[in-house]
Amino acid sequence: MSATAKKQAPNAEDIRARKGGTPLVSLTAYTTPMARLMDAHCDFVLVGDSVGMVLHGLTSTLSVTMEMMILHGQAVSRGLDKAMLVIDMPFASYEESPQQAFRNAARLMSETGCAAVKLEGGVEMAETIRFLVKRGIPVMAHIGLTPQSINTLGGYKVQGREEQAEAVLADARAVAEAGAFSVVLEKVPQVLADKITAEVAIPTIGIGASAGCDGQILVVDDMLGFFTAFKPKFVKRYADLGPLAEAAIAEYAAEVRARSFPAAEHVFADQAPSKG
Ligand code: KIV
Repeated sequence: MSATAKKQAPNAEDIRARKGGTPLVSLTAYTTPMARLMDAHCDFVLVGDSVGMVLHGLTSTLSVTMEMMILHGQAVSRGLDKAMLVIDMPFASYEESPQQAFRNAARLMSETGCAAVKLEGGVEMAETIRFLVKRGIPVMAHIGLTPQSINTLGGYKVQGREEQAEAVLADARAVAEAGAFSVVLEKVPQVLADKITAEVAIPTIGIGASAGCDGQILVVDDMLGFFTAFKPKFVKRYADLGPLAEAAIAEYAAEVRARSFPAAEHVFADQAPSKG
């Protein structure tokens, strides 16, 4: 599939210019119908590598592949006109070298039409961010809790408490200075998130961070109540659709077993055969 620029959607520079303004609104999406539902309401939509856990039943994001991101990226792209499309670079697609990152980021852009990529990491990824941005690839950074590093972070813990705060601040400064157009702050204490937001010149996008961030993002299946394996503290359930869907499925199953579905209005009655 070739890239199709969304004419009405904001681009990375439009998002950058929203620093300090009305908060940026973002959700994740993985399918066309869900992207259509959020298109008019979000400034940007992220095809997160959370797709691995949310839709594919994986226990972490570590085995998400480029092929998965491209397939879901193409699906979401078809559902968006107004919102900007950002796609996560999956684990092991960018950490090796700036050149590897460029090859895979360029592939995500050319095969999905996304306007930017997101990658995890701070100081250690600054060189790669600079390399990509200089070569025409807008980068959203992601610091604090970076789920692709759970094995070295020791789990899904808050990042930046006490003596860790300086390191997270250094990450924020490094990615902003390297040219990222915005930065996701995941599971960062509120005071630190506010400090970073005040200090860096690019929009901060909070998830488990602070209402003072320049924008917010949530995983759509979390906020709609479809993903119920666990619920992080920072998730607000705006709807509880999982139990509703299960009740509907149970009702269908009972009706099929009772032969009350399909009813007369759901079947195509033949004309009575004419005589002679
Ligand atoms: O993969 C994802 O969904 C994300 C968001 C939670 C920021 O990175």
